[in-house]
Amino acid sequence: MPEKQTQAPVVTVDGPGGSGKGTIAMRLAEHLGWHFLDSGALYRLVAVAAMDRGVSADDEETLGRVARSLDANFGISEEGMVVLLDGNYITGRLRSETVSVFSSRIAAFPFVREALIVRQRAFRKPPGLVADGRDMGTVIFPDAKLKIFLTASAEARAERRYKQLKEKGESVNLTRLFQDIKKRDERDSTRAVSPLRPAEDAHVIDSTELSINEVLREIHVLLEKNGIS
Ligand code: C5P
Repeated sequence: MPEKQTQAPVVTVDGPGGSGKGTIAMRLAEHLGWHFLDSGALYRLVAVAAMDRGVSADDEETLGRVARSLDANFGISEEGMVVLLDGNYITGRLRSETVSVFSSRIAAFPFVREALIVRQRAFRKPPGLVADGRDMGTVIFPDAKLKIFLTASAEARAERRYKQLKEKGESVNLTRLFQDIKKRDERDSTRAVSPLRPAEDAHVIDSTELSINEVLREIHVLLEKNGIS
């Protein structure tokens, strides 16, 4: 029997930062009772590990080694996902703007991306996986049962991110965030390896004018159409 048929089913949710894909993917995983992969967290973990070791964001070879030897663990607490690096809780640092910018820079390096491929595919286990990222449907799980590409205007995404960071007590500037988002979009979409783009068979949903629940309703229709429940 071909390998594909024996593998657990996958739903991919790709898109730019701030499109709501993280929340949507987590809610879908909960709804289906499937595993959840936040692939961006892996790139962020490499960024934190590299920053702590004083590795430059330009040193592709060392960054590749950091990615390969990453000692990372994920867990769930009452507050949501917790992340451990080398046995230390680093959940709070993971979403800071500094880490966002560093992770987006190093994600352009083939050495870093290759080092994370096996790690990402290892999340695919029965009964199924919901995978959130940029290249889940195009590169990591091209045989996914359902592929969603969630997008939103850069303005809407900057505002969402602004609210999130404010709630966490980070001091933020909306104009600066908007510029950072535009820069990251540009870097993510124009890089030579695994650029951010919808897979040919992805369903594109623009969430600019939609609430999380409205997006989820659209996806539930697609789940049903694809025989996933
Ligand atoms: O999704 P999140 O914003 O946490 O991802 C952090 C960074 O990691 C992104 O800016 C992107 O450059 C990179 N990334 C990627 N491929 C993925 C997930 C994230 O290149 N599958």
